[in-house]
Amino acid sequence: MEQKRWMTRTGQWAFALVALVLSASATALVPNAAMLANACAGCHGTYGASAGPSMPSLAGQTKDAIVDAMKAFRSGDRPSTIMGRLAKGYTDADFAAMGDFFSAQKLHITQQAVDPNRVAKGASLHSAGCAKCHTENGRTSTDETPAMASQWLPYLQMQMALYVQGKRKTTGMTEKIKALSADDLESLLHFYASVK
Ligand code: HEC
Ligand code: HEC
Repeated sequence: MEQKRWMTRTGQWAFALVALVLSASATALVPNAAMLANACAGCHGTYGASAGPSMPSLAGQTKDAIVDAMKAFRSGDRPSTIMGRLAKGYTDADFAAMGDFFSAQKLHITQQAVDPNRVAKGASLHSAGCAKCHTENGRTSTDETPAMASQWLPYLQMQMALYVQGKRKTTGMTEKIKALSADDLESLLHFYASVK
């Protein structure tokens, strides 16, 4: 009798505890932008300011740029080493929350070794062919175009190689890139990496 009452009491406690844990984890599972961004900080840096050199900064990119990139990684349209597998774990609503978070952060300014001659040449090539979309010397951008000012040079070189090899598809840049030599493209990337 005494034992049965004890067991009932224990059972009730166990039930209450399970209910408490479940409700706590249900609250913790509601994603918010900062929580989602924490999943990215290990590679992209705190607040999207990457320590480089092959991990891009995300801070200051437009919401559309982040969302479009995540969708392209998830579908496999954009080639990747890591992001394709990672993006499959998230919904469109998560992508929107990530876009809100990173677009609200200030552009990450880096100090990198660049070739001054290339920077000068890249600046004039930029004005002629790239400034329409990569606005304010790449500090800002239109819609889904990523900001590139101060972006890490090795990352930009890897992405440019993917464009040139036709592995990464572009919406508006194919003709512009084809018209330039490998040397011109390299100068353009030095220019973007140098912008403060
Ligand atoms: C394990 C490291 C790692 C983690 C974690 C990670 N990323 Fe990435 N991310 C990369 C790499 C590397 C690239 C370059 C593409 C590739 O090769 O996968 C990249 C590229 C990107 C790009 C494209 C940037 C551009 O300028 O085009 C976006 C957007 C992005 N990641 C968002 C995120 C978000 C959001 C998270 C968190 C949910 C995240 N990443 C977590 C490594 C990571
Ligand atoms: C018509 C608009 C437009 C023009 C002009 C343009 N770009 Fe882009 N750029 C984009 C968009 C949009 C993306 C994102 C990928 C995509 O959808 O093509 C991008 C992405 C990039 C990236 C990859 C950045 C990253 O973070 O992954 C590089 C590098 C780049 N552009 C270089 C250039 C250079 C160099 C020029 C001039 C020769 C140029 N772009 C001209 C729209 C443009």
